[in-house]
Amino acid sequence: MNVAPSATLRPKARLVHTLGSELISSEHVALMELVKNAYDADATEIVVRFSGRLLQGEGQIDVWDNGHGMTAKTVTDVWLDIATPYRQKNQRSESGTRRVLGEKGIGRLAASRIGRFTEICTRREFGTEVSFVLDWDDFNRDIYLDEIHVNVEENSAVVFTENGEAANLFQSAAQYHGTVVRMNQLKQAWTAIDISRLRLELARMIPPKPDDALGEIVHPSHSIRLELPEEFRELEGPVVATDVLDHPDYSIVGILDEDGTAVLQYRERRSGKTEDIAKIFRVSGSEAGTSRRPRCGPLSVDIRVWDLDTEAFKSARTALNIESASVREYRRHIKDHSGIGLFRDGFRVQPFGQSSFDWLNLDARRVNNPTFGVVKQPNKRIYIHHGK
Ligand SMILES: Nc1ncnc2c1ncn2[C@@H]1O[C@H](COP(=O)(O)OP(=O)(O)OP(=O)(O)O)[C@@H](O)[C@H]1O
Ligand SMILES: [Mg+2]
Repeated sequence: MNVAPSATLRPKARLVHTLGSELISSEHVALMELVKNAYDADATEIVVRFSGRLLQGEGQIDVWDNGHGMTAKTVTDVWLDIATPYRQKNQRSESGTRRVLGEKGIGRLAASRIGRFTEICTRREFGTEVSFVLDWDDFNRDIYLDEIHVNVEENSAVVFTENGEAANLFQSAAQYHGTVVRMNQLKQAWTAIDISRLRLELARMIPPKPDDALGEIVHPSHSIRLELPEEFRELEGPVVATDVLDHPDYSIVGILDEDGTAVLQYRERRSGKTEDIAKIFRVSGSEAGTSRRPRCGPLSVDIRVWDLDTEAFKSARTALNIESASVREYRRHIKDHSGIGLFRDGFRVQPFGQSSFDWLNLDARRVNNPTFGVVKQPNKRIYIHHGK
C-alpha cells in the first residue's frame, strides 16, 4: 500500500466572499453586524455615517464606536483570524458589564458586502493607532487566502485624539479610544427608502419605553446615531424606539417568575377596563424523558395589540397627539414593528422579533384554534425582557 503524504485543506480567497455574502443576507444585516461588534467592544456611542454620493462604486459608510479599540496584536490575532473563537471563549465584554452578541467569528466579513474597500482604524486608550485596508476585490482572484497580505500599520494617534476626527463625533466626555470601520466604493446605491429601512431595523433592536408596571427594565447602555448627506437630513439623528407603540388598544403586562408564576394585568385602553391575571405556567421539557428542565430567569412580559380600523386610529390620534399622520401611515408604523421580540440587556436577541419569524408558531396555533379562527389576526407586538 502506498502511503500518501498527509494532505491539508487550504481555502481559496473567495471563501471569504462566500461566507460574507451567503451568511449575511443583506446590506442592512451587514451593518447590523458591525453595530453588534461595537456593542461587544463596550461602546456607549455608535455612529453610522454615510457620506459622498451614495451610488454604486461611490460613497462611503463608516461605523464609528467609542469602544475599547484593538491593539495591533488583537488585529492580527483576532480580527484577521477568520472564524475566530474569541467571543465564544469570552462571553462577557472586556468591562464585564455586557454579555456579548458575537460568537461565530465571521460578523466583520459583512463589511465585504458593503463596499469594495474596508479601512479600519482603531485605538485603545493611551495606545498607538492601528490601521489597515482590505481590498475585497483581491478575494475574487484565484489565489489562496494565505496569499493575501494585509499591511497592519501602527502610528501615533491622529483620529482618536483630542483634535482628531473622533473628538467631535461622540457626545460623552473625552474618550480617545474606539474603532472606525470605513467602507468605500459602495457595492449598491442607497436610497432614502433603504436608509429608512435601516433606521427601522436599528430601532427594532432597542426596546420601546417599558410599561410602568414592569418596574426597572434594563435600558440600552448604548446609543446609535445616523449621520447622513444633506439630501437625507430628515432621516438623520439618534435611533430611538417609536412612541406610536406607547398606546396599544389592548395590553397584557407583568412579570413571569423563574418558577413559572405569572402576575399579569390585562388592559383595554379605550374602555379603561383592567383585569388581574395570576397564573402558573408549567415549564415544558421536563416530561420529555430528560431530567433537564430548560432554565430561564424571571421575564418581564409586555404584549401590545392594536386594532387597525379607522375608529381605533382616531382615538389613538387624540391620545398620541399625532395630527399629521394618516390612517395608512399609522397602520404601516404598527405593522413595521409587529413581531415577538426577546430582549436581553436592552438589546433584541436575534432572530426573535424579525417580522417573518413566527418562533412561537402563533399563526399555526391561530389556524388550529376555532375561537381564534373567527377573529382576524390583530397586530401584536410582544416584548419579553430578560433581566439578569
Ligand atoms: N468594533 C470593534 N471593536 C473592537 N474589537 C472588534 C470590533 N469589531 C470586531 N472586533 C474584534 O474582531 C473579532 C471578530 O468580529 P466578528 O464580528 O467577525 O466575530 P464575532 O463578533 O466574534 O462573532 P459573530 O460572527 O457572531 O459576530 C471580535 O471577536 C472582536 O474581538
Ligand atoms: Mg460580531
